[in-house]
Amino acid sequence: MEKKSFSHREGIFLQHPFFLFLILALGFVVMDPFKMGPVGCHDFRPVKHDIAPYKQVMDNWPRDQYGRLGNGKLEFDDQVFGPESLEFDSLGRGPYTGLADGRVVRWMGEAIGWETFAVVTTNWSEKHCARGVDSTTPKQWKHEKRCGRPLGLRFDKKSGNLYIADAYYGLLVVGPEGGLAAPLATHAAGDPILFANDLDIHENGSIFFTDTSKRYDRVNHFFILLEGEATGRLLRYDPPTKTTHVVLDGLAFPNGVQLSRDQTFLLFTETTNCRLMKFWLEGPKTGTVELVADLPGFPDNVRLNDKGQFWVAIDCCRTPAQEVLTHNPWMRSIYFRLPIQMSLLARMMGMRMYTVISLFSENGEILEVLEDPKGVVMKLVSEVREVEGKLWIGTVAHNHIATLPYP
Ligand SMILES: *[C@@H]1O[C@H](CO)[C@@H](O)[C@H](O)[C@H]1NC(C)=O
Ligand SMILES: *[C@@H]1O[C@H](CO)[C@@H](O)[C@H](O)[C@H]1NC(C)=O
Repeated sequence: MEKKSFSHREGIFLQHPFFLFLILALGFVVMDPFKMGPVGCHDFRPVKHDIAPYKQVMDNWPRDQYGRLGNGKLEFDDQVFGPESLEFDSLGRGPYTGLADGRVVRWMGEAIGWETFAVVTTNWSEKHCARGVDSTTPKQWKHEKRCGRPLGLRFDKKSGNLYIADAYYGLLVVGPEGGLAAPLATHAAGDPILFANDLDIHENGSIFFTDTSKRYDRVNHFFILLEGEATGRLLRYDPPTKTTHVVLDGLAFPNGVQLSRDQTFLLFTETTNCRLMKFWLEGPKTGTVELVADLPGFPDNVRLNDKGQFWVAIDCCRTPAQEVLTHNPWMRSIYFRLPIQMSLLARMMGMRMYTVISLFSENGEILEVLEDPKGVVMKLVSEVREVEGKLWIGTVAHNHIATLPYP
């Protein structure tokens, strides 16, 4: 609408000094010659993507009027750094978790405490990588690539091996005694695995895992959201042939992966599009993808409980502005080139802390919603594990693990 009147009155616009100034200023912002905007040195190419309308989703999303997630307890404060994924071994020991300093660690009880269980590369050294509480700050960014960043963790119940999706080193495995993990997959269909994120193990041994983007690595993950680019993949590693296959391509920030209890389908999250998806592995719909739910924010990992239901960790937050920007990539082109800090731009867009976790039935019905509506106690949750009457909740950005009695 605006564009049309612009072309009609171009002459008037260009003659008026104020408008001429405005156009020059806009041009300056778009060109960003001094790389002052948050997208700075990146080849920023926003695209239109597919997100459900804000009102439709939020009007139908059940709310937790008691803010029950706010009753959680923060444990191991400043002892773990960005524990994204939480896992327990067949002896019930744990949690095991991957940290922002590149290590996989495990909790061995009060007497022993946290111990290093595995690293993903011979490049790992105490001197270059162990930055303690600073691991979750930008101070770690330029070291991540070298030190590794283990995100998804899963034990193979039969062998006791731990499989790791590392953001920089791809899919790896380490024996039950830990140590240096061995790489299994670093490439798929000729492309490097740029950002392995999460995995699950099929009972026949196949490993399904996500590669979040072909354009941006973990440090730059915010640009995947801003661009709306969809170059992520769902991959399958086949142990008998030691080969990696592309299952799905063209996904918008594929993140968590979880097989169903009966192995007939798997769920994965598409973070950019704020949704939970299903991929059928058996039955009449084999090989097809369908929508399970549009979520009120950006989903991360999905984990099964022992009833066969799915916990999804969801973060701040869908906004009405996001919907407009999503449908108009040119606006994002300008907006995110403004020489203003990204956090301020995000706040101006209406983004604020809001944390929610949700439980889905096998058929995709919402069974439970727990919120911390202002993110007072829990912020940026990444995974929910339900173990014997307790929820263990990981976070990729903070230095603690949250727990909550449940049910
Ligand atoms: C060590 O890090 C460098 C630089 O990131 C990388 O090129 C190399 O592959 C890494 N070596 C190993 C053994 O992982
Ligand atoms: C395991 O199951 C997956 C999913 O159905 C299938 O793609 C794969 O070929 C199977 N692998 C073996 C070794 O049977």
